[in-house]
Amino acid sequence: MPARPVILVFDSGLGGLTVLREVVRARPDAGYVYVADDAFFPYGRHGEAALIARLVPLMGELIAGWRPDLVVIACNTASTLVLPHLRAAHAVPFVGTVPAIKPACAGSRSRLVSVLGTEATVKREYTRALIRDFGQGCAVTLVGSAHLAAIAEAALRDEPVDAAAVAAEIAPCFVAQDGRRTDTIALACTHYPLLLDRLRAASPWSVDWIDPAPAIARRVVDLLGGPPAGQAARPAADRFVFTSQRPPAPALVAALEGFGLRLQDAARPGSDGRDAPAALGAAGR
Ligand code: DGL
Repeated sequence: MPARPVILVFDSGLGGLTVLREVVRARPDAGYVYVADDAFFPYGRHGEAALIARLVPLMGELIAGWRPDLVVIACNTASTLVLPHLRAAHAVPFVGTVPAIKPACAGSRSRLVSVLGTEATVKREYTRALIRDFGQGCAVTLVGSAHLAAIAEAALRDEPVDAAAVAAEIAPCFVAQDGRRTDTIALACTHYPLLLDRLRAASPWSVDWIDPAPAIARRVVDLLGGPPAGQAARPAADRFVFTSQRPPAPALVAALEGFGLRLQDAARPGSDGRDAPAALGAAGR
Protein backbone atom coordinates (compact mmCIF):
# COMPACT_ATOMS: atom_id res chain seq x y z
CA MET A 1 0.00 0.00 0.00
CA PRO A 2 1.26 3.53 -0.77
CA ALA A 3 2.44 5.69 2.11
CA ARG A 4 -0.37 8.13 1.39
CA PRO A 5 -3.34 6.17 0.13
CA VAL A 6 -6.37 7.57 -1.65
CA ILE A 7 -9.65 6.38 -0.14
CA LEU A 8 -12.90 6.69 -2.09
CA VAL A 9 -15.98 6.87 0.15
CA PHE A 10 -19.26 6.25 -1.66
CA ASP A 11 -22.93 6.64 -0.75
CA SER A 12 -26.20 7.46 -2.46
CA GLY A 13 -26.08 10.87 -0.80
CA LEU A 14 -24.67 12.51 2.30
CA GLY A 15 -25.18 9.65 4.76
CA GLY A 16 -21.68 8.37 4.05
CA LEU A 17 -20.32 11.52 5.72
CA THR A 18 -20.96 9.76 9.05
CA VAL A 19 -18.55 7.05 7.91
CA LEU A 20 -16.11 9.45 6.26
CA ARG A 21 -15.74 11.36 9.55
CA GLU A 22 -14.53 8.23 11.36
CA VAL A 23 -12.29 7.07 8.53
CA VAL A 24 -10.60 10.48 8.36
CA ARG A 25 -10.00 10.26 12.13
CA ALA A 26 -8.36 6.88 11.66
CA ARG A 27 -6.28 7.85 8.60
CA PRO A 28 -5.90 11.65 8.69
CA ASP A 29 -2.97 11.43 6.29
CA ALA A 30 -4.90 9.80 3.41
CA GLY A 31 -6.41 11.62 0.42
CA TYR A 32 -10.20 11.38 0.15
CA VAL A 33 -12.69 11.34 -2.69
CA TYR A 34 -16.29 11.40 -1.48
CA VAL A 35 -18.85 10.43 -4.10
CA ALA A 36 -22.58 10.98 -3.52
CA ASP A 37 -24.68 9.27 -6.18
CA ASP A 38 -27.43 11.80 -5.67
CA ALA A 39 -28.58 11.45 -9.27
CA PHE A 40 -29.93 8.02 -8.21
CA PHE A 41 -30.98 8.88 -4.60
CA PRO A 42 -32.64 7.27 -2.70
CA TYR A 43 -31.23 3.79 -3.20
CA GLY A 44 -33.85 2.39 -0.83
CA ARG A 45 -36.50 2.93 -3.48
CA HIS A 46 -34.73 1.04 -6.30
CA GLY A 47 -35.15 -2.62 -7.16
CA GLU A 48 -32.19 -4.96 -6.76
CA ALA A 49 -31.53 -5.43 -10.49
CA ALA A 50 -31.61 -1.66 -11.08
CA LEU A 51 -29.11 -1.02 -8.28
CA ILE A 52 -26.68 -3.65 -9.49
CA ALA A 53 -26.96 -2.33 -13.05
CA ARG A 54 -26.27 1.21 -11.79
CA LEU A 55 -23.47 0.51 -9.35
CA VAL A 56 -21.13 -1.96 -11.01
CA PRO A 57 -20.37 0.20 -14.08
CA LEU A 58 -20.47 3.45 -12.09
CA MET A 59 -17.87 2.08 -9.71
CA GLY A 60 -15.75 1.01 -12.68
CA GLU A 61 -15.82 4.57 -13.96
CA LEU A 62 -14.98 5.99 -10.52
CA ILE A 63 -12.09 3.59 -10.00
CA ALA A 64 -10.68 4.35 -13.45
CA GLY A 65 -10.99 8.10 -12.84
CA TRP A 66 -9.77 8.38 -9.27
CA ARG A 67 -7.53 5.33 -8.92
CA PRO A 68 -8.32 4.79 -5.23
CA ASP A 69 -6.31 2.37 -3.12
CA LEU A 70 -9.45 1.35 -1.23
CA VAL A 71 -13.18 1.97 -1.62
CA VAL A 72 -15.58 2.30 1.31
CA ILE A 73 -19.19 1.62 0.34
CA ALA A 74 -20.72 3.79 3.07
CA CYS A 75 -24.22 2.60 2.32
CA ASN A 76 -26.07 -0.39 3.75
CA THR A 77 -28.60 -0.48 0.93
CA ALA A 78 -25.80 -0.93 -1.60
CA SER A 79 -23.45 -3.08 0.50
CA THR A 80 -26.04 -5.70 1.45
CA LEU A 81 -26.66 -6.30 -2.25
CA VAL A 82 -23.84 -5.22 -4.51
CA LEU A 83 -20.57 -5.96 -2.66
CA PRO A 84 -20.05 -9.44 -4.16
CA HIS A 85 -20.69 -8.00 -7.64
CA LEU A 86 -18.23 -5.15 -7.05
CA ARG A 87 -15.56 -7.48 -5.70
CA ALA A 88 -15.97 -9.81 -8.67
CA ALA A 89 -15.72 -6.93 -11.15
CA HIS A 90 -12.97 -4.76 -9.60
CA ALA A 91 -9.61 -5.61 -8.05
CA VAL A 92 -9.47 -2.70 -5.56
CA PRO A 93 -10.27 -3.67 -1.94
CA PHE A 94 -13.79 -2.76 -0.79
CA VAL A 95 -14.99 -2.15 2.75
CA GLY A 96 -18.75 -2.37 3.06
CA THR A 97 -21.28 -1.10 5.57
CA VAL A 98 -23.78 -3.68 6.81
CA PRO A 99 -26.27 -3.64 9.69
CA ALA A 100 -24.41 -3.86 13.04
CA ILE A 101 -26.55 -6.75 14.27
CA LYS A 102 -23.76 -8.64 16.03
CA PRO A 103 -22.67 -5.80 18.36
CA ALA A 104 -26.26 -4.68 18.89
CA CYS A 105 -27.34 -8.13 20.03
CA ALA A 106 -24.16 -8.69 22.06
CA GLY A 107 -24.79 -5.49 24.02
CA SER A 108 -28.54 -5.81 24.58
CA ARG A 109 -29.62 -6.55 28.15
CA SER A 110 -33.36 -6.79 27.45
CA ARG A 111 -32.72 -9.08 24.41
CA LEU A 112 -35.08 -6.89 22.38
CA VAL A 113 -33.19 -5.27 19.53
CA SER A 114 -34.39 -3.29 16.52
CA VAL A 115 -32.69 -2.71 13.19
CA LEU A 116 -33.66 0.57 11.54
CA GLY A 117 -32.74 0.74 7.83
CA THR A 118 -34.16 1.56 4.45
CA GLU A 119 -37.07 -0.55 3.26
CA ALA A 120 -34.66 -2.28 0.90
CA THR A 121 -31.99 -3.09 3.51
CA VAL A 122 -34.40 -4.72 5.95
CA LYS A 123 -35.81 -6.91 3.16
CA ARG A 124 -32.43 -8.23 2.06
CA GLU A 125 -31.53 -11.86 2.56
CA TYR A 126 -28.10 -10.60 3.71
CA THR A 127 -29.70 -8.81 6.67
CA ARG A 128 -31.82 -11.82 7.59
CA ALA A 129 -28.74 -14.06 7.48
CA LEU A 130 -26.94 -11.67 9.88
CA ILE A 131 -29.83 -12.10 12.34
CA ARG A 132 -29.73 -15.88 12.00
CA ASP A 133 -25.96 -15.99 12.47
CA PHE A 134 -25.43 -13.25 15.05
CA GLY A 135 -28.80 -12.68 16.74
CA GLN A 136 -27.58 -14.51 19.85
CA GLY A 137 -31.12 -15.36 20.89
CA CYS A 138 -32.37 -11.76 20.76
CA ALA A 139 -35.78 -10.96 19.32
CA VAL A 140 -34.85 -8.66 16.42
CA THR A 141 -37.45 -6.30 14.94
CA LEU A 142 -36.69 -5.11 11.41
CA VAL A 143 -37.98 -1.61 10.69
CA GLY A 144 -37.85 -0.25 7.15
CA SER A 145 -38.08 3.53 6.97
CA ALA A 146 -39.38 5.12 3.79
CA HIS A 147 -38.47 8.71 4.59
CA LEU A 148 -35.66 9.07 7.15
CA ALA A 149 -32.80 9.22 4.62
CA ALA A 150 -34.52 12.07 2.77
CA ILE A 151 -35.26 13.78 6.09
CA ALA A 152 -31.54 13.56 6.96
CA GLU A 153 -30.61 15.12 3.61
CA ALA A 154 -33.10 17.93 4.25
CA ALA A 155 -31.71 18.48 7.76
CA LEU A 156 -28.21 18.85 6.30
CA ARG A 157 -29.56 21.47 3.91
CA ASP A 158 -30.84 23.33 7.00
CA GLU A 159 -34.45 22.75 6.00
CA PRO A 160 -36.98 22.36 8.83
CA VAL A 161 -37.46 18.81 10.11
CA ASP A 162 -40.89 17.65 11.21
CA ALA A 163 -40.37 16.00 14.61
CA ALA A 164 -43.69 14.14 14.30
CA ALA A 165 -42.55 12.61 10.99
CA VAL A 166 -39.31 11.40 12.64
CA ALA A 167 -41.28 9.96 15.56
CA ALA A 168 -43.63 8.11 13.19
CA GLU A 169 -40.71 6.58 11.26
CA ILE A 170 -39.00 5.21 14.37
CA ALA A 171 -42.07 4.25 16.44
CA PRO A 172 -42.10 0.57 15.32
CA CYS A 173 -38.55 0.17 16.70
CA PHE A 174 -39.82 0.52 20.26
CA VAL A 175 -41.25 -2.80 21.38
CA ALA A 176 -42.52 -3.59 24.88
CA GLN A 177 -43.33 -7.19 25.66
CA ASP A 178 -43.33 -9.48 28.70
CA GLY A 179 -42.14 -6.68 30.95
CA ARG A 180 -39.15 -6.00 28.66
CA ARG A 181 -38.48 -3.11 26.31
CA THR A 182 -36.22 -2.62 23.30
CA ASP A 183 -32.93 -1.29 24.62
CA THR A 184 -30.75 -1.25 21.47
CA ILE A 185 -31.34 0.02 17.93
CA ALA A 186 -28.85 -0.63 15.14
CA LEU A 187 -28.68 2.28 12.71
CA ALA A 188 -28.62 0.34 9.43
CA CYS A 189 -28.55 3.36 7.14
CA THR A 190 -25.58 5.72 7.18
CA HIS A 191 -27.91 8.72 6.92
CA TYR A 192 -29.47 8.10 10.30
CA PRO A 193 -26.58 9.08 12.59
CA LEU A 194 -26.93 12.55 11.04
CA LEU A 195 -30.28 12.72 12.85
CA LEU A 196 -29.15 11.24 16.15
CA ASP A 197 -30.25 14.17 18.32
CA ARG A 198 -33.65 14.14 16.64
CA LEU A 199 -33.95 10.37 16.98
CA ARG A 200 -33.21 10.65 20.70
CA ALA A 201 -35.73 13.46 21.10
CA ALA A 202 -38.43 11.44 19.29
CA SER A 203 -37.84 8.24 21.34
CA PRO A 204 -40.46 7.10 23.84
CA TRP A 205 -37.64 5.80 26.07
CA SER A 206 -33.87 5.84 26.07
CA VAL A 207 -32.01 3.20 24.03
CA ASP A 208 -28.47 2.56 22.80
CA TRP A 209 -28.09 3.59 19.15
CA ILE A 210 -25.44 1.56 17.33
CA ASP A 211 -23.56 3.44 14.62
CA PRO A 212 -21.25 1.16 12.59
CA ALA A 213 -18.88 3.95 11.49
CA PRO A 214 -16.09 3.36 14.07
CA ALA A 215 -15.99 -0.35 13.17
CA ILE A 216 -15.72 0.54 9.47
CA ALA A 217 -12.80 2.85 10.22
CA ARG A 218 -11.08 0.01 12.11
CA ARG A 219 -11.56 -2.26 9.09
CA VAL A 220 -9.95 0.36 6.86
CA VAL A 221 -6.94 0.45 9.20
CA ASP A 222 -6.80 -3.38 9.17
CA LEU A 223 -6.49 -3.30 5.38
CA LEU A 224 -4.37 -0.19 4.85
CA GLY A 225 -2.46 -0.04 8.11
CA GLY A 226 -2.49 2.88 10.53
CA PRO A 227 -1.22 6.40 9.84
CA PRO A 228 2.52 7.02 9.83
CA ALA A 229 4.06 7.92 13.19
CA GLY A 230 4.27 11.61 14.06
CA GLN A 231 2.17 14.53 12.92
CA ALA A 232 0.32 13.60 9.71
CA ALA A 233 0.08 16.48 7.24
CA ARG A 234 -3.19 16.59 5.29
CA PRO A 235 -2.78 16.50 1.52
CA ALA A 236 -4.67 19.39 -0.15
CA ALA A 237 -6.27 17.02 -2.60
CA ASP A 238 -9.63 15.92 -1.28
CA ARG A 239 -12.56 15.91 -3.65
CA PHE A 240 -16.31 15.90 -3.33
CA VAL A 241 -18.41 14.64 -6.23
CA PHE A 242 -22.18 14.70 -6.69
CA THR A 243 -23.16 12.52 -9.65
CA SER A 244 -25.85 15.11 -10.44
CA GLN A 245 -22.91 17.54 -10.86
CA ARG A 246 -24.43 20.11 -8.53
CA PRO A 247 -21.85 21.98 -6.45
CA PRO A 248 -21.73 21.31 -2.70
CA ALA A 249 -23.47 23.96 -0.59
CA PRO A 250 -21.23 26.16 1.60
CA ALA A 251 -22.56 24.42 4.74
CA LEU A 252 -21.47 21.08 3.33
CA VAL A 253 -18.02 22.38 2.47
CA ALA A 254 -17.73 23.74 6.02
CA ALA A 255 -18.77 20.35 7.44
CA LEU A 256 -16.14 18.57 5.35
CA GLU A 257 -13.48 21.04 6.41
CA GLY A 258 -14.61 20.42 9.98
CA PHE A 259 -13.64 16.77 9.47
CA GLY A 260 -10.18 17.96 8.43
CA LEU A 261 -10.65 17.61 4.66
CA ARG A 262 -9.16 20.15 2.30
CA LEU A 263 -11.22 20.27 -0.86
CA GLN A 264 -9.42 21.03 -4.04
CA ASP A 265 -10.75 23.54 -6.53
CA ALA A 266 -12.65 21.66 -9.22
CA ALA A 267 -11.56 24.15 -11.84
CA ARG A 268 -7.89 23.41 -11.34
CA PRO A 269 -6.33 20.20 -12.55
CA GLY A 270 -5.47 18.04 -9.55
CA SER A 271 -1.96 18.45 -8.24
CA ASP A 272 -2.24 14.75 -7.48
CA GLY A 273 -3.02 14.09 -11.14
CA ARG A 274 -6.38 12.58 -10.26
CA ASP A 275 -9.17 14.37 -12.04
CA ALA A 276 -12.87 13.66 -11.95
CA PRO A 277 -14.24 11.22 -14.50
CA ALA A 278 -15.62 13.48 -17.23
CA ALA A 279 -19.10 11.98 -17.07
CA LEU A 280 -19.43 12.79 -13.39
CA GLY A 281 -17.68 16.11 -13.00
CA ALA A 282 -15.76 17.21 -9.95
CA ALA A 283 -17.55 19.32 -7.41
CA GLY A 284 -14.76 20.60 -5.23
CA ARG A 285 -14.70 24.18 -4.22
N1 DGL B 1 -27.23 5.84 3.19
C1 DGL B 1 -27.85 4.70 2.59
C2 DGL B 1 -27.75 3.46 3.49
O1 DGL B 1 -26.86 3.36 4.31
C3 DGL B 1 -29.20 4.74 1.97
C4 DGL B 1 -30.08 5.84 1.73
C5 DGL B 1 -30.87 5.68 0.43
O2 DGL B 1 -30.31 6.06 -0.59
O3 DGL B 1 -32.00 5.14 0.45
O4 DGL B 1 -28.52 2.55 3.35
